[in-house]
Amino acid sequence: MRESKRGQSSLLIQGARAELPASNEKFDVDHGAGLHFRSMEPPESPIHNISDTARWVAVYRARESERPDAVFRDPFAQRLAGERGQQIAASMPFAEKNSWPFVARTWLIDRLISEQVRGEIDTVVNLAAGLDARPYRMDLPRSLQWVEVDLPEILAHKEELLGQEKPVCVLERVRLDLSDVQARRELFLQLGQRANRALVVTEGLLVYLTAEEAAALGNDLAAQPAFHHWILDLASPALLKMLAKKMGAPLDQAGIPLKFAPQTGPEFFTRCGWKPEQIHSLMHAAAKIKRLPLFLRLIAMISPARFQPNRPWSGVCLMGKHR
Ligand SMILES: C[S@@+](CC[C@H](N)C(=O)[O-])C[C@H]1O[C@@H](n2cnc3c(N)ncnc32)[C@H](O)[C@@H]1O
Repeated sequence: MRESKRGQSSLLIQGARAELPASNEKFDVDHGAGLHFRSMEPPESPIHNISDTARWVAVYRARESERPDAVFRDPFAQRLAGERGQQIAASMPFAEKNSWPFVARTWLIDRLISEQVRGEIDTVVNLAAGLDARPYRMDLPRSLQWVEVDLPEILAHKEELLGQEKPVCVLERVRLDLSDVQARRELFLQLGQRANRALVVTEGLLVYLTAEEAAALGNDLAAQPAFHHWILDLASPALLKMLAKKMGAPLDQAGIPLKFAPQTGPEFFTRCGWKPEQIHSLMHAAAKIKRLPLFLRLIAMISPARFQPNRPWSGVCLMGKHR
């Protein structure tokens, strides 16, 4: 565990001896007992790095799996999320109250993957796979090649916990920093040469990229003729603004602010050679699977499912090649 970088955040001065607070703290006069220091900063985030977001989202899969009416079951999510995942989730009260987007996203992506592997897709390339356990929990062809790419630490954690489990298809893991452009191009080239038709998945990754980084990734994926389809999730600029306000602080503190929400929605990737073939609103999907609170159910009934840059909107898109 990382050591706390902060000083004591609340200190009552009784008499002459007192520890000085960190310089960014202020104090109130407490008339009953003396001076009371009050921290001006939020508590330290339990999110330490980008891979901790994988632990966080696994918590929502675990919770959904426990429901008697679960729309998917991930029997590994609880184990993979661990104590750290639970602590992170507890520190994000807004997401705790609004976990339906995570559930709807998993449900939608499961359906899209199932649909694609029933066709001619022979390889799934899951970029930023995190603690996703689809190769163990989904009904997939045994001959399907499934490649998971993520940073070394989170894949080591996953392998340690899933070492005894058997994937249903052929599973391979690649420890790679996807921001290393040269290395990722080499990997995409290798995978592109091996596959006949590949489906790429980037669940929960793009929002942490800048627009330039997202476009560069889109270009590198489009450069491989065998990469036929790409499943991505996307937020609108209005949603990003709302999320930054409601739950951005712990992510900002960890140095991983939410960044990418293109004004043009999925059409952003047209310049890279991708066109949206299916666009699914998460709110409408959540309404369908009955995971929305009443108020949002009413909103979903009156609002269109299409991408809306000026309204909080998030969706899952199946992209295909257009050149
Ligand atoms: C929100 S999690 C999503 C994980 C998984 N796809 C899911 O939906 O459960 C984001 C993931 O992106 C991975 N990631 C972020 N930046 C990365 C990079 N530069 N290279 C490889 N993986 C990265 C993190 O390690 C983390 O596992």
